[in-house]
Amino acid sequence: MTDIRDDARAGFEAVFGRASDGLWSAPGRVNLIGEHTDYNEGFVLPFAIDRRTLVALGVREDRTLRIASTFADEAVEIPLDELLAGADGAVPAPGALGGWSAYPLGVAWALGESGADLSAVPGLDLFIDSDVPVGAGLSSSAAIECSVGLALNDVWRLGLDRPALASIGQRAENVAVGAPTGIMDQSASLLGAADHAVFLDCRTLDSELVPLGLDEAGLAILVIDTGVKHAHATGGYGERRAACERGAAALGASSLRDVTVDELPRAQRLLDDVTFRRVRHVVTENQRVLDTVAVLRTQGATGIGELLDASHRSMRDDFEISVPELDLAVETAVGAGALGARMTGGGFGGSAIALVRVGDLSRIQVAVDNAFGEHAYGQPDTFVVSASDGATRN
Ligand code: GLA
Repeated sequence: MTDIRDDARAGFEAVFGRASDGLWSAPGRVNLIGEHTDYNEGFVLPFAIDRRTLVALGVREDRTLRIASTFADEAVEIPLDELLAGADGAVPAPGALGGWSAYPLGVAWALGESGADLSAVPGLDLFIDSDVPVGAGLSSSAAIECSVGLALNDVWRLGLDRPALASIGQRAENVAVGAPTGIMDQSASLLGAADHAVFLDCRTLDSELVPLGLDEAGLAILVIDTGVKHAHATGGYGERRAACERGAAALGASSLRDVTVDELPRAQRLLDDVTFRRVRHVVTENQRVLDTVAVLRTQGATGIGELLDASHRSMRDDFEISVPELDLAVETAVGAGALGARMTGGGFGGSAIALVRVGDLSRIQVAVDNAFGEHAYGQPDTFVVSASDGATRN
């Protein structure tokens, strides 16, 4: 099997006809718990996974950016100064950058917008390769943003730290791609570490690495990619975000972070049923993140199964972002012996995760495959992920 790093270097050479000057990579993520809490200034507990996006890069003598990838046949080329022309307040219209190139070019644009001095930096050739599945809810987009962000930060000597690069990636996604997402995915991709989850306070952006200890406990995280595609630039994601903002305003809070579980009865009296259930998900989910961190630190991962299950129920019934395939994956995994399971990521498709004893892995995989077959759903892709290091120069 060839190493994906060799593939990225070879891809660069094939497109640009010379050797690359360097290689950077950033991982996708799985969120262990804390869903739709990030844009509510709450808590999240994702980890970086052992699936990565690689960027092979070569410095040019002019100020053009040329980007090629395994996602599309065509290379995209744009003069850096044209891209940055929007940096004085005007922003590129979502979609103006076109398709997959909005992610890497959006990062260069966001660096300029954030005030980084790009007046004398050289143009670049970039080749992007990835083994993070696209549309599976594992943050293939953040993996592109963070690998490109780290590469540009290094090669252009901008001196930004990782939290700043996470914000740049988020800005690219919000403005250039047009998806109103939070800071979780980019933070996981940049701050992750092997065998640890990233406990992030999305209000202060303080983060802490929490040991998962899965190997020692004989446990694994199984991803069940349902194959149901989702897109957060359209539809449900933005509606959920708006409902949270409405709920917070009606409760006189600047964000749902400031609403506690004890205040839910009052919220129920003040809010309509749908808004109340959206609020209840976020408020209880924040508490579940704190509880999960506490259990990981005291009992270890064996003790967090029920919290994962409760998180899924809350997303299914209160936040209403699950789909039948995700519910089936979760129910089947738990029924076949998983310690806990939940959908992960923004929802409306994508993947579920199950916390599984290593000895039960193949039995649970078979049970999930069979259940999907019985429901005449497309076969899911099931695979184990391990918590891995964040973005790096390779
Ligand atoms: C997507 C977004 C994140 C976060 C999750 C839901 O992954 O990119 O910012 O909001 O959904 O937790």
